[in-house]
Amino acid sequence: MGPSIPLLLWLLLSWSCSLQGQYPDYMAYLERQLATLEERMAQCQDQTSRHAAELRDFKNKMLPLLDVAEKEREALRIEADSISGRVDSLEREVDYLESQNPTLPCVEVDEKGTGVGPGNKSKGRRNEKYDMMTDCGYTISQVRSMKILKRFGGPTGLWTKDPLGPTEKIFVLDGTHNDTVFIFPRPRDFTLARTARKAIRVRVPFPWKGTGQLVYGGFLYYARRPPGGPGGGDKLENTLQLIKFHLANRTVVDSSVFPAEGLIPPYGLTADTYIDLAADEEGLWAVYATQEDDRHLCLAKLDPHTLGTEQQWDTPCPRENAEAAFVICGTLYVVYNTRPASRARIQCSFDASGTLSPERAALPYFPRRYGAHASLRYNPREQQLYAWDDGYQILYKLEMKKKEEEI
Ligand SMILES: *[C@@H]1O[C@H](CO)[C@@H](O)[C@H](O)[C@H]1NC(C)=O
Ligand SMILES: *[C@@H]1O[C@H](CO)[C@@H](O)[C@H](O)[C@H]1NC(C)=O
Ligand SMILES: *[C@@H]1O[C@H](CO)[C@@H](O)[C@H](O)[C@H]1NC(C)=O
Repeated sequence: MGPSIPLLLWLLLSWSCSLQGQYPDYMAYLERQLATLEERMAQCQDQTSRHAAELRDFKNKMLPLLDVAEKEREALRIEADSISGRVDSLEREVDYLESQNPTLPCVEVDEKGTGVGPGNKSKGRRNEKYDMMTDCGYTISQVRSMKILKRFGGPTGLWTKDPLGPTEKIFVLDGTHNDTVFIFPRPRDFTLARTARKAIRVRVPFPWKGTGQLVYGGFLYYARRPPGGPGGGDKLENTLQLIKFHLANRTVVDSSVFPAEGLIPPYGLTADTYIDLAADEEGLWAVYATQEDDRHLCLAKLDPHTLGTEQQWDTPCPRENAEAAFVICGTLYVVYNTRPASRARIQCSFDASGTLSPERAALPYFPRRYGAHASLRYNPREQQLYAWDDGYQILYKLEMKKKEEEI
């Protein structure tokens, strides 16, 4: 390779000399162009090194600032953590204080004996101790878990299984005024359904009002205003007729006038419901209120076969801020909330059988949802509640304990 470079140079030189000889103008032009190029490159280099220097300066200035920003961010994060920790512990404290506060619980064992209730003109025994028919003797200790199943229908409604039914059918009553019950063959069909298109529809002869209906043993139990002049003034005003409707045969099999006058919506926060029907291990119950004592709830035990009222009680549970209720083992549990909706809580219970003592009654909160319960249906077999919360269908699993402390 060695000898080839001088050779190349010599060739180039002689070529350029001969070029210069041949095209002197062109060569001069090329040289000028080269000079300009060189100048520009020099300028460019100059600029680049200046930019590099500026960038270095900038970086040197920014580095400490970045450091500060990073430290501030970390401090903010720590502060946010500690604030949310403090909020959590505050909420726990409030929960604790509320659970310690002796004025809130209004559990009362029914010991009044006979004939104490205001007015006794209604049929059936009033305010007498209830004799249990089953041996169930437990009470709620807490709401163990919540499962949001889906969102279906409007903000208010009712969904339930038949607590007596051998089937897994899901019954859905959407809205506070309608006449069509949707029946899904299995829970899966309901969870997967996006609309009620595939559901079996059963139309009831009279539209329901409110969310107090009950599916029990293949029947839909619900209330309606008895036919009578809307002019008012007659004795039937503010009374309700109970209807027993066979869902498979689609026939009304029985009806009766509920033996209480001057009915008013029992729950302060659920205005459309005039009578709330409930099922437990013992059978059928009704929660209602009358003008006679417009501050507290009444409870009645119904005969599911005849729709007759067997017994009635005046409970100490206030109507104010009540949103729903249910019955377990002969004990009424009333759920309270606020408007606008906040955390729901069982704040009052009334044991018709007189077994549950106030010290033994838990007053649990529902898991945090900030919704309003339009209805709560208890299923004794599953020991869970079917809740309709602002259009969401929710299952609450309950944890139970014995009503009486074991000695
Ligand atoms: C209802 O009250 C009347 C008196 O006010 C009394 O004689 C009657 O025994 C009471 N009935 C019942 C079922 O308590
Ligand atoms: C029942 O609800 C549907 C829509 O959800 C409505 O079209 C229908 O009119 C309602 N029926 C009654 C009797 O209110
Ligand atoms: C339902 O209909 C069947 C057949 O018509 C009848 O045997 C049965 O007694 C009915 N059940 C009720 C609860 O009406």
